[in-house]
Amino acid sequence: MKTAFVFYSYTGKTRALAEKRAGKEQAELIEIKEKKRRSTVAAYVLGSLAARRQKRAEIEPVAADFADYDKIVVAVPLWAGFPAPAFNSILELLPRGAKVELIITSGSGNSTGSREKTMALAASKGVQIVSYEDVKTAE
Ligand SMILES: Cc1cc2nc3c(=O)[nH]c(=O)nc-3n(C[C@H](O)[C@H](O)[C@H](O)COP(=O)(O)O)c2cc1C
Repeated sequence: MKTAFVFYSYTGKTRALAEKRAGKEQAELIEIKEKKRRSTVAAYVLGSLAARRQKRAEIEPVAADFADYDKIVVAVPLWAGFPAPAFNSILELLPRGAKVELIITSGSGNSTGSREKTMALAASKGVQIVSYEDVKTAE
């Protein structure tokens, strides 16, 4: 069973979760990086707005061919109640028919308010979210 663990992380928490979980199931870690590193202000203002509008981020090219994997896990942080814009870019990389286990990390909140929109966007790209998990990273 070949598993890809795809993640985007801005402050390192989703990376830590991805490294821990990918190690457990011997998955291949694939980090998605934005082309330009956002400043904190840019992340909170423009990034949050883009997340709420379900806009894509400009990301570095990814070498992996996702059609090669039996299982794809995607982990991204929550920004202003929505998955960070990198998530919307990840959806574009996945083959139609892909089955994805989605993990959304957050501080004190959760993604309940955006869940339906996230599922709808994924479905419109032919991506099936087979499991959905909110993980709080704040202590
Ligand atoms: C721009 C921005 C917006 C955020 N918005 C929320 C939010 O709406 N609700 C929440 O609970 N946490 C929010 N957070 C906190 C992150 O979702 C949380 O700390 C996450 O685990 C960080 O993952 P990372 O370290 O991999 O970037 C936000 C963080 C950033 C940088």
